[in-house]
Amino acid sequence: MPVHASLLILKPSLATTFLRSSLSSALVPFPLIRLRPFPNPRNLSSLSSAASSPTHSLVSSSGDNVGGGRSGAISPPPIEDSVQKIDVNPPRGTRDFPPEDMRLRNWLFNHFREVSRSFGFEEVDFPVLESEALFIRKAGEEIRDQLYCFEDRGNRRVALRPELTPSLARLVIQKGKSVSLPLKWFAVGQCWRYERMTRGRRREHYQWNMDIIGVPEVMAEAELISSIVTFFKRVGITASDVGFKVSSRKVLQEVLRCYSIPENLFGKVCVIIDKMEKIPIDEITKELKSLGMSEEAIKDLLQVLSIKSLTKLEEILGAAGEAVADLKQLFSLAEKFGYSEWIQFDASVVRGLAYYTGIVFEGFDREGKLRAICGGGRYDRLLSTFGGDDVPACGFGFGDAVIIELLKEKGLLPELSLQVENIVCALDHYLQGAAAAVATRLREKGQSVDLVLESKPLKWVFKRAARTNAQRLILVGNSEWQRGMVSVKILSSGEQYEIKLDELE
Ligand code: HAM
Repeated sequence: MPVHASLLILKPSLATTFLRSSLSSALVPFPLIRLRPFPNPRNLSSLSSAASSPTHSLVSSSGDNVGGGRSGAISPPPIEDSVQKIDVNPPRGTRDFPPEDMRLRNWLFNHFREVSRSFGFEEVDFPVLESEALFIRKAGEEIRDQLYCFEDRGNRRVALRPELTPSLARLVIQKGKSVSLPLKWFAVGQCWRYERMTRGRRREHYQWNMDIIGVPEVMAEAELISSIVTFFKRVGITASDVGFKVSSRKVLQEVLRCYSIPENLFGKVCVIIDKMEKIPIDEITKELKSLGMSEEAIKDLLQVLSIKSLTKLEEILGAAGEAVADLKQLFSLAEKFGYSEWIQFDASVVRGLAYYTGIVFEGFDREGKLRAICGGGRYDRLLSTFGGDDVPACGFGFGDAVIIELLKEKGLLPELSLQVENIVCALDHYLQGAAAAVATRLREKGQSVDLVLESKPLKWVFKRAARTNAQRLILVGNSEWQRGMVSVKILSSGEQYEIKLDELE
């Protein structure tokens, strides 16, 4: 919002004065604004409700109310005179982050970042708004129907990203040969999916991603799972709370090959199989039949998917195939990394995104109360679907919502309170400048300072110090200041002393 407009909202008299002077001096170009009486403040609500009128709303491609007006047809929201109370809640499925929630979010993201860096990964990010085409794949994935997409003012189809992987692939292609492989990249970013809301599933969530580009060997998947285990251990979650179900899409591929099912149906079959826990088995069978699979092939496929032991899988598929070889290697590496007790083979894990090609894994809570905590796998062919060269790649996404639920369940959420090191207060109004100088000195020394900005009684200052968990109270009083000194009180012990400003650290 231009500064003039924000002033109009803040304070009518001030805004009018400001506008008059700035318009007359003509220093700030703002030719279109017309001075007019400030609207009744309650009318502002109608502005914000108008701003969320259908023309501007972002809605699911599957939902009603799809916008998509032409840019020429988009006009500014009407300014209505009627009074309308705004809904103070954020849109359904989205969250505000007041300070206490923001502290928790920062705590979680710091762990994500520290773990990633300890594995030698570099942080990246991408725009939340991407071209819609980046997320459209032909396999009929659920994520496609959950897309928040619309046409922008330049008639481009755009979407709020539902995941980070396609953006990462786009950037890798764009960088081309200018980067040397392997890339180890991580990101923490907000994703948007028009989901049916359940515990731990919302319409906006943050996802921690770690991806390795350019390593074809299972060592990469083993390293990624190791990083997630490292995260779990740091926050107090053990192998008895959480496990990883691991399989490989090559298992399915080998079964499909036995029945000469065309390769191009592979993604679609995976997406159907992924729905197994959500829809009745008859539906699954029907959908697979509609792809042209015979009853016998479907029966065998479902049988293989029920296998939970690697030895059994080897008996059925033989030891020669890549699926068994990859999985055996992963389990052997897990032993070396030291996280064997965290992982188990489960052929039913295929994951719902079409692009996976090899090992896939999902983190789950052993009590079975929550949705998947995290998930990932190998996607060696995603880049070529965007017109790039194929580069081996694997990674995972780890949401912020389910993990918070789990930490809550286990009593592992940290107590995070506001914490400042110093509270600085002038004892007389005319000493406020002196207090500001004290605050500046301390801040320059790297200390945090809550400066009392108004004249307040000491009782108020102590209350505030308790609320902010300040460690020291620094009082700037007349007699001390004249001697170049301030009073310091250590709030935990009550110890009190005077110190020269030059010596204050
Ligand atoms: P995904 O399984 O769709 O994979 O999502 C990964 C994780 O994001 C989930 O396990 C969950 O923690 C979280 N998540 C997903 N949707 C929601 C939601 N609506 N509300 C809250 N949390 C959610 C992917 O997105 C892949 N791109 C991951 C990946 C990265 N694969 C390779 N690299």
